[in-house]
Amino acid sequence: MKTSKMLRITTITMLMLLFVAAGSVFAQQKQPGGWKANMPAKYKTMKGKGDVAAGKELYIKHCKSCHGPKGLGDGPKAASMKTFPGDFSGSKFQSYSDGELYYITVIGYEEMPAYEKKVTDDEDRWALVAYMRSLKK
Ligand code: HEC
Repeated sequence: MKTSKMLRITTITMLMLLFVAAGSVFAQQKQPGGWKANMPAKYKTMKGKGDVAAGKELYIKHCKSCHGPKGLGDGPKAASMKTFPGDFSGSKFQSYSDGELYYITVIGYEEMPAYEKKVTDDEDRWALVAYMRSLKK
């Protein structure tokens, strides 16, 4: 009798621990749907001024390794990514708003790293956006 009660308590405790562990795993996962589903509405219409030449220098330093010299997604690191980094010259990419490009660059999503801590100056962030715009075909 005593052992079966012990067994029951142990089983219940184990199950509870399992639920807690499973819960924390799910909580760490980003919401599905990529950046669009996670982006706060305020970014969509955000605008800023950025210098294309300054953006180019920042791009070469931080982005070229994956996105390639012309933003075609053909940088040397792109091959080791699960996802294609995108074609910055294409019409789908260029249809994103400035604020959306800013959001992706600063906050990141999935395999796209966040640059919030590496590019801290707001003018530099907008310079990157301006440079990505200049890559249009
Ligand atoms: C380590 C590789 C890597 C670096 C470095 C990197 N990116 Fe990305 N980026 C990615 C990948 C991979 C994706 C696609 C992610 C996905 O779709 O899940 C992406 C996506 C993007 C997108 C969205 C593309 C689209 O077509 O939707 C933008 C904008 C972007 N990156 C900008 C930048 C900028 C600006 C920098 C530099 C400040 C940068 N990235 C640096 C890997 C990188």
